[in-house]
Amino acid sequence: MKTINVNIKDVLSFVPEAQIEALDSAAADGLEKLHNASGEGNDFLGWLDLPTRTPAALLDDIVATAQSLRNDCEVVVAIGIGGSYLGAKAVIEALSDTFAAYRGTAPAVLFAGQNIGEDYLYELQDYLKDKKFGIIVISKSGTTTEPAIAFRLLKAQLEAQMGKAEASRRIVAITDAKRGALRQLATEEGYKTFVIDDNVGGRFSVLSPVGLLPIAVAGYDIKALMQGAIDMENATKEHSKDNITEIYAKTRNALYNAGKKIEILVNYNPKLHYFSEWWKQLYGESEGKDQKGIFPASVDNSTDLHSMGQWIQDGERTIFETVISVEEQAHSVIIPSDDANLDGLNYIAGRHVDEVNKMAELGTRIAHIDGGVPNMQITIPALKEEYLGQLIYFFEKACGISGYILGVNPFNQPGVEDYKRNMFALLEKPGYEEATAAIKARI
Ligand code: PA5
Repeated sequence: MKTINVNIKDVLSFVPEAQIEALDSAAADGLEKLHNASGEGNDFLGWLDLPTRTPAALLDDIVATAQSLRNDCEVVVAIGIGGSYLGAKAVIEALSDTFAAYRGTAPAVLFAGQNIGEDYLYELQDYLKDKKFGIIVISKSGTTTEPAIAFRLLKAQLEAQMGKAEASRRIVAITDAKRGALRQLATEEGYKTFVIDDNVGGRFSVLSPVGLLPIAVAGYDIKALMQGAIDMENATKEHSKDNITEIYAKTRNALYNAGKKIEILVNYNPKLHYFSEWWKQLYGESEGKDQKGIFPASVDNSTDLHSMGQWIQDGERTIFETVISVEEQAHSVIIPSDDANLDGLNYIAGRHVDEVNKMAELGTRIAHIDGGVPNMQITIPALKEEYLGQLIYFFEKACGISGYILGVNPFNQPGVEDYKRNMFALLEKPGYEEATAAIKARI
């Protein structure tokens, strides 16, 4: 079986191996805290064995529900934000034909509720007005403002276009088993529902119905995705020098301790843009607390070599890079020969485009190492469901271990509430009268 791989050799000239290995017992301790549920945030460890404990019957139900939405709808809108959005978006983008939407071949999955853009929502509603569409509304709390606004708008539109009974058949809600406004609404309206377990936090929920249903609607094999995650779950249970989740967690913490405060996740495949967005949320919300934490950033190369390349090569030396290398491409494009050769490209005629991309990757890695940027490399055999399942579980588990090495609770996100309190106060939400008075006095 092919598998993802982590290589830290291009870190060792910046941080000696001994400094990484000095964190070995902290990594072992972090792993044990996860498996014994003895660390902070231990009530949010449901993701840890989610791949192996998800019943086949649940996967079958998700696949059947996705098929019924695909049969009935030209377009399905997945409504959610943060952990209720990014995982599905990341996997769908990684697996999709970049131009599928223009070909109009499959029921497209569109997203809403991940912003409060008035023009975005206007344009979405306008696009949907002559479409047969369905909705997957995803909110663990059931009370998040962004998806609630989008759902209110699209539910009203669907009911106006289809009638209430048919609209209800085309809406699936994914939320808490009992609590929250969305659960109540789903019960009253008779929507098909899936449950987000109490002990699975948003950013760790992609391998639950939260991510799996939109991914299945987009036409991808969620059983293969889960099998990849099962393989990684089984491969990373034991403390060992070869446990790649521990290697990644130790190395990034050793770099952080050596003053490398920013980690840039680098890809050379435009399909991985949203995978980086998912990763940034996973690590940013898990580790950025108590005035600590590596700042997770990302670039899409070679595009960003023409914007951020200068900074990375030559700016403040507080960064390190983690490069995701995709070994095999799905398609083959050969650079043609040209008799006139006015562009001077005949020296690469007959070669695959990916060969050029791989040389851009290697050349950049060497230049950045020479420029003082430690480099880790994560190799993924191909952009296929099973390897993405491996990669997702790998990053989730490494995140838990890394957070414990850092000394934070990786599973809460207290800082996310602050903007909400201010927004509600400014909008004069009932119950926020005192906060409204206080914030208005400041502006
Ligand atoms: O990771 C998290 O917990 C957050 O990003 C949430 O997923 C996000 O705030 C959305 O919350 P909810 O699913 O409750 O609407």
